[in-house]
Amino acid sequence: MFKPSGLNEKEEKIMNGRPKIFLTRELPPECMDRLSESSDLTYNREDRCLTKAEIIAGVRDAEGLICLLTDTIDDEILQAGSKLRVVANFAVGFNNIDVAAASSRKLPVTNTPGVLTDSTADMAWALLMDAARRVAEGDRLVRTRKWAGWGPLQLLGSDITGATLGILGMGRIGQAMAKRARGFEMRVCYWNRTRLSLKDETRLGLEYCSKESLLEQSDFVSVHVALNDATHHFIGESELARMKSTAILINTARGPVVDEKALCEALQHQRIAGAGLDVYEQEPILVEELYDLPNAVLAPHLGSATIGTRTKMGMMAVENCLVAWRGQRPPNLVNEDIYE
Ligand code: GLV
Repeated sequence: MFKPSGLNEKEEKIMNGRPKIFLTRELPPECMDRLSESSDLTYNREDRCLTKAEIIAGVRDAEGLICLLTDTIDDEILQAGSKLRVVANFAVGFNNIDVAAASSRKLPVTNTPGVLTDSTADMAWALLMDAARRVAEGDRLVRTRKWAGWGPLQLLGSDITGATLGILGMGRIGQAMAKRARGFEMRVCYWNRTRLSLKDETRLGLEYCSKESLLEQSDFVSVHVALNDATHHFIGESELARMKSTAILINTARGPVVDEKALCEALQHQRIAGAGLDVYEQEPILVEELYDLPNAVLAPHLGSATIGTRTKMGMMAVENCLVAWRGQRPPNLVNEDIYE
């Protein structure tokens, strides 16, 4: 048995014990192996989200909870999980967790930053290119078996090279988005709550501007802000009205950052040219009109969906959970205030 020095009896018991972990849905194989070797694991073996009642039942006995962005972890769940020592989210965003409620219980909450930056920026670019060049529309046409062949005016899209890209939110993913724009010789302007240093702006080739002026100038607007009270419907009717009629909106952040109804209206009336969406206000349900709009490219929340990224996210969530369970500060703690 592991015999660490300088630990009291309780700490020693923890170091040598196995945490009881509840996982709300199966993760990639490497993560499941790590969990099985290091914990007493209970997990949802069905390929579906658990109901609130099922999560409550699952956390009753658990010391660690690993949950997903599709699980709403509220105070009632935290209360039911009175033995919990950590809530480890398998996502960089953590708007699904009542972090204030967790903090009031001195319960660490963790996320998975960094490892999904590139895959999410890649996805934003996939949507941008698809919406600009009408790939999904073309795919639908070909599959009708009614495509009559090449035409000089058929499915004309927008130029990407040399266009202006406006990035709202210049965190890790916003910056990865900007780096990719260099290859397309784009002008990149950005808005962020806090302006970057001049050095970083120069390094990334960015122009800082107000949200309003970014919306007015950009051919493509890509949203990369975190969802919180301040960013709910960050893009609504008045923001859409500022955009060019030829512009395309990309959202890979969180659905409620964009007012989906207002977006539908703008797309229906061609007030903007198109949208590429990976996230929605009430996933997996979309505002009805969106399903039929040809100028919207709709992906089913795939931002981080690569084998490599999901494995890294899972390993990170597992390590956060194990470290916090031992009473140590987890590497990706989001509620620093528990130590105040
Ligand atoms: C994905 O949407 C994430 O927040 O990790």
